[in-house]
Amino acid sequence: MTTRTAQPATLTTTRTRAPEDDLEEFDEHPVRGRFNSAFFWVMGGYINRHLHQRKSATFADLPPTVVELGAGVGANMRYLPAHARLVAIEPNPYMHSRLRRAARSWGVELEIRSVVGARIDLPDASADAVISSLVLCSVRDPDAVLAEIRRVLRPGGRFSFAEHVAAKAGTPTRWTQRILRRPWAWVFEGCSCERDLAGVIESAGFTRVDLTHYRIHSPFLPFNTHIAGTATT
Ligand SMILES: C[S@@+](CC[C@H](N)C(=O)[O-])C[C@H]1O[C@@H](n2cnc3c(N)ncnc32)[C@H](O)[C@@H]1O
Repeated sequence: MTTRTAQPATLTTTRTRAPEDDLEEFDEHPVRGRFNSAFFWVMGGYINRHLHQRKSATFADLPPTVVELGAGVGANMRYLPAHARLVAIEPNPYMHSRLRRAARSWGVELEIRSVVGARIDLPDASADAVISSLVLCSVRDPDAVLAEIRRVLRPGGRFSFAEHVAAKAGTPTRWTQRILRRPWAWVFEGCSCERDLAGVIESAGFTRVDLTHYRIHSPFLPFNTHIAGTATT
């Protein structure tokens, strides 16, 4: 595990938002949108088996209201406290009906916000906790999304994440991530397996970052290198 303590950077709170900005950030596609919704619904249990141990630790002790970036079809509802309220930032409309279904079955009070992570429509310092899993690989500008997460978190609030990242340079996994980058991004709506998200999170201006690198063993080789941890404002 690595721990970094950093000086918080200044937050910008003035934002102008236009619908076309969201279109630039998230390319809604009827075929891939539906495919990804079905894929994560069907594969959710399998993916969770690989990530469960790390997610259980990272998402432990969440407060009663949680903001989730890219909530998908509700993979993380099982980690929320009983009777939790989830504010789901989810720009893919094809995820929404399954997300509602998951909320009913987990007893979660759900509020869906169909906006992108770079323009979260929540006030400054209004959230105790933000979570994400397998999302920072897909957003256009991870730095802008992390600045938004910091903006909506109250001082001392926490961002808990479980994300997949680039493998070490020169390894077979890294070569595979490079070779498959285009078809992978096409199928999984812009997902990149080549991002140094640990570095991005560590340099995002959080007061403290604790994260662990780990590897899973799945047949989806580009997807096997991960980080999980918490960043505190
Ligand atoms: C790989 S899925 C992961 C879903 C879920 N978090 C999970 O762990 O199963 C990526 C999710 O991020 C969402 N997403 C993509 N771009 C986004 C953006 N710019 N802002 C917020 N969410 C985004 C997608 O719609 C999708 O639900």
